[in-house]
Amino acid sequence: MDLQHVESDLDLDQTLFTEDQIIGRLQEIAREVEADYEGRDLLLVGVLKGAVMVMADLARSFDRHVEMDWMAVSSYGSGTTSSGVVRILKDLDADISGRHVLIVEDIIDTGLTLSWLVTNLRSRGPASVEIATLLRKPDALQMEVDVKYVGFDIPNAFVVGYGLDYAERYRNLRSIGTLAPHVYS
Ligand code: PRP
Repeated sequence: MDLQHVESDLDLDQTLFTEDQIIGRLQEIAREVEADYEGRDLLLVGVLKGAVMVMADLARSFDRHVEMDWMAVSSYGSGTTSSGVVRILKDLDADISGRHVLIVEDIIDTGLTLSWLVTNLRSRGPASVEIATLLRKPDALQMEVDVKYVGFDIPNAFVVGYGLDYAERYRNLRSIGTLAPHVYS
């Protein structure tokens, strides 16, 4: 859905990125990744559910073959915060030993989920593990995470759209916007 379909929605505050801006940035990242992984196989690992849109558009931006696999993890957090204790709900189908893995995420907030995930995947003997995230909140980071590709750094606000949800809503919004503070405060 487009913004016009939720225009009267008082829960949405302002648009941060339009669909064109997002796709344009993902295409730039795809060019960087292609250069960095030239001559090497690449496995993209998407983290469900938020990364579905990023994965779809990033993967289609490549002018080369890439493979895709998925993980679903759940943080034992309370509501809107993560705890860093992560449970695997769906593991990879692929054996990643000896492979170059690029984790594809929609957002790094506290960094706790990704920090755990990188450690988990590195323990499986891959050739490399790197991270690509569309969004990162530098002011919310609690754990230093080495992120190779970042779409946009954003303020510490609650963002929705393009895969990101609030109570499972807004994931199918084409753009990314901020949620009005009255919704979650
Ligand atoms: C989001 C996002 C990351 C995680 C980042 O997922 O996709 O996986 O939170 O947060 P952190 O940096 O504070 O750990 P979420 O748990 O909301 O699940 P979802 O992708 O299914 O929406």
